[in-house]
Amino acid sequence: MKMTTDNKIETRTNLKELEMLKKISIMLTQERDFDKLFGYVLDAAMEYSNAEGATIYMVDDEAKQLRFIKVFNSAMKVSLNVDQIDWPPIPLFYDEVPNLKNIATLCYHHKRSYNIADVYEQQVFDNSGTLKYDKLNNYRTKSIVAIPMMDHKNRIIGVIQLVNALKDNGDKIAFLAEEIGNLEVLASFSAILMNNQMLIKDIQTSFHQFISSIAWAIDKKSMHFSGHIARVSELVEMFASEINEYQEGKSKFADINFTEDELEEINIAGLMHDLGKIITPMHILDKGSKLQKIADRIELVLERIDHIRSIVQMEIDHAEAESKIELEEIQQRIDQYEKFLVKTNSGRSYFSDNDIQALEEIYQFRYMINGKSHFIINDDEYFNLKIRMGTLNPEDIRIIREHVVVTGEMLAQIKFPAYLSNAPLYAKLHHEKLNGEGYPDGLKGHYIPLQARILALSDVFEALTATRPYKKFKKLSETYSILDKMVAANEIDEDLYQFALEQGIFHKYAIKHLTKEQIDR
Ligand SMILES: [Fe+2]
Ligand SMILES: [Fe+2]
Repeated sequence: MKMTTDNKIETRTNLKELEMLKKISIMLTQERDFDKLFGYVLDAAMEYSNAEGATIYMVDDEAKQLRFIKVFNSAMKVSLNVDQIDWPPIPLFYDEVPNLKNIATLCYHHKRSYNIADVYEQQVFDNSGTLKYDKLNNYRTKSIVAIPMMDHKNRIIGVIQLVNALKDNGDKIAFLAEEIGNLEVLASFSAILMNNQMLIKDIQTSFHQFISSIAWAIDKKSMHFSGHIARVSELVEMFASEINEYQEGKSKFADINFTEDELEEINIAGLMHDLGKIITPMHILDKGSKLQKIADRIELVLERIDHIRSIVQMEIDHAEAESKIELEEIQQRIDQYEKFLVKTNSGRSYFSDNDIQALEEIYQFRYMINGKSHFIINDDEYFNLKIRMGTLNPEDIRIIREHVVVTGEMLAQIKFPAYLSNAPLYAKLHHEKLNGEGYPDGLKGHYIPLQARILALSDVFEALTATRPYKKFKKLSETYSILDKMVAANEIDEDLYQFALEQGIFHKYAIKHLTKEQIDR
């Protein structure tokens, strides 16, 4: 079959449209980066119309102006992105009166395309700026089109402006009227797409802000844990970006590269990891001494001691010499009990077997006043003072540990977007240990993903270097020796720990968050 010239032109036009369609489908399916999206729009429009140059403006509704987003001109060798453009935005109004002097603002206000065959021979808009520009740059702007980027609600979100349609031989000609319709479709399609992207971005931002604000509230809830979540999240982010930057080297992390989505996922996991502490009672979270509940009950114990002591003293004052010695001995014992209890209550030192014996004696101590037996500590106080390390009794520990389960349960009630779907899992696993002795599930090694290992290590590092109600902060040397032991016991990931040391992650964190006294290595 012989092809006519008309057929050939039609085929070429169809091919051009197909090419533009292809670009649009790439935009739709692959691109979330706004800058690239604008690049695709600009390329597609220029290629389709064989234009020499193009500009994309976005409408800034608040400032009521058109902002330059991209400028390209092959003849002028100009290719500028938004951050490289220092031209002032174009006002959409002057004193509330629409600015109709510029072709782009005209297109905005009249919500329609303009196709000008020769800028020098027209009355549609004020070409003085173009003439000035041309003269300055020894350029000739001939044809120009402005296409509104209209979304599904008929709102203009931007304007695409094309300059100088070119013939195959490079001659500047007018844009073809029949191409304008397709360019309008491209512009509107881009507008709808970008609106969707903006909407998605807004939802993502809101979601992130929502999670951050809950994390902030939990950080505020406890005086002593204050800032823990924020600092752990920061450390997690430092790990992730350091792994991404590490491209070559012996460590296995050279092969790992987190995508943007994965970075967000691990970041969200960091922010959410202690979400369950929202239900942990304050007096347990901040339990600064063994007898602390809502108030520190050591005060009650001391009052009892004072009472017994004053009675004994009264008895000493009226006693015979013989029983005086015995009473004074009791008085001395009470003084010793008092010192011992105050020291024990702080939970700052390990409680030995001898200490348990001493406590047992105090627990058994009784003194008769007016025929009534008086004690120094009751059953619950005895139970709490017996705590070997720190200030938490087994029941407190159970309640504290429950926070991970609660974190998991809370997150299970939220439908996470696909790209964040693993964040709840990472958050839930932050107290698991590689040797299977962690909680709540006692998961072993390969069941704990890298992201959760990063979170676990960051969590421990922050906890060790921070001051808690029952302990002073640890210096770096002490922290590293504890972490060494944890590595030896296969509790934390050795490679990750080594990587952090080699890449100076802990050191960078220390400079920002620890005191000079702590940075001893
Ligand atoms: Fe935790
Ligand atoms: Fe934590």
